[in-house]
Amino acid sequence: MNKYLIVINKENKIKPNYLKYIKLVSLKDIDNKETLLEEETASYYKKLRIALKKKGIEVGLDGGYRTIEYQQELKETFIKKYGEEYANKIVAPPGMSEHHTGLAIDLSIKTNGKYDKDNNEISNHIEQYQAIVPYLSQYGFILRYPKGKAEITGYPYEPWHIRYVGKIPAQIMYENNWTLEEYLRNFSAILYVNKPAGITSFDVVNQISEIYGIKRVGHTGTLDPLAEGVLIVTIGQATKVAELITAEDKEYKAGVLLGVETDTLDITGKVTKSKPVDLSKDIEKIVNSYQKTYMQEVPIYSAIKVKGKKLYEYARNGEKVELPKKEVTIKKIKLLSSDNDTFLIKALVTKGCYIRSLIRDMGRSLDTYATMTTLIRTKQGAIDIKQTNTIDELAKGKGILHRIDEVLDFPIIIVDEEEERKIKNGQKMPNKYQITDKVIFKNKNNKILGIYKTEKNMLRVWKNF
Ligand code: DAL
Ligand code: ZN
Repeated sequence: MNKYLIVINKENKIKPNYLKYIKLVSLKDIDNKETLLEEETASYYKKLRIALKKKGIEVGLDGGYRTIEYQQELKETFIKKYGEEYANKIVAPPGMSEHHTGLAIDLSIKTNGKYDKDNNEISNHIEQYQAIVPYLSQYGFILRYPKGKAEITGYPYEPWHIRYVGKIPAQIMYENNWTLEEYLRNFSAILYVNKPAGITSFDVVNQISEIYGIKRVGHTGTLDPLAEGVLIVTIGQATKVAELITAEDKEYKAGVLLGVETDTLDITGKVTKSKPVDLSKDIEKIVNSYQKTYMQEVPIYSAIKVKGKKLYEYARNGEKVELPKKEVTIKKIKLLSSDNDTFLIKALVTKGCYIRSLIRDMGRSLDTYATMTTLIRTKQGAIDIKQTNTIDELAKGKGILHRIDEVLDFPIIIVDEEEERKIKNGQKMPNKYQITDKVIFKNKNNKILGIYKTEKNMLRVWKNF
């Protein structure tokens, strides 16, 4: 889990072993005293400071990492100075301050050659603190306690307290006007990822989860480690609609080697059968003949269950099992190139079709065996590989975040507050909108409330958000 997205607030205490996972480094504060900050936080703080100086704003450190004991002392000082009520309002309970993480910084700004020393001085120079906010996210920081969000963060406006979360989450929070709590709860997106060969689809999910610091990440239509290409990844609430995206046709480019069949039906497996290849056969004719609907035997190395057990478990245990057949349709197929005992195809297939199985079947039709050597998913539904981003692009903030309502091709209806309440309660509604399949309901603030589907003359909740 991304350590920069840790939440410490009135509900979440710092864990006793937290310091094991970070490194603190020392910087000088505005009084030339040692202040500790988490390493990456310190490095981006220095960059932020230089950038702001160029804009004519001089910021200094007025606090960073605090021990629990120090927070206790601070609380007592504040109680003496301002009284218990105010102190409790603005100073976190010991053990519940973000300053225990080393990721939080209290800033002071220099005016007329002098740094602000307390909250009163800061309030006299408030415009300067407001002026730095647009620059924070570029260096991975957020204003942690913005105006009007006390109910969410637990604290009133603190113009001086910034928090390192990393550049990508910081930018999303800034653009959406979200606090850290809101980001973790609300961030949802659909990503079109170009999966590289050599890693599992689950590895892709883990890497995406780390980039955005969000735990709830899923994907549609698994690609094996050997395979590359379009992998749709869903973050947050978008995970709820993954099944709709999976249900679509897919297009692949696959490489074939004739003469051998393997246990996995691809080149990573053990050769189980071999036969000399008759090179006079018309490969193109056989390939084209597969543009059809037929009963395809599923591969043994698949997660399909037979008698409650996954097929690959039978394979691993060396147990015999009859492989089920499923009806599949190859809507389009084309021989792209061929060279002796290898060739390359492009195929558009329906859900449930295994390209490895298709290749096995073509091998047998060519009077020999065949195994898959490469696999690229070039399309999933309407999403083309040209629209995908690499993980590296996403990690650099150069990827595109797609919205649920943009990816799903359903009508969108903006409802009033009364209907919003009904939708939130999951109530059935009359189909006064002439919906034929599904509809996305949103409120005035563009927030998705739910997806409903038709049922007789009514609309019934399909997914609640
Ligand atoms: N002033 C912030 C909330 C703290 O004490 O951590
Ligand atoms: Zn602070």
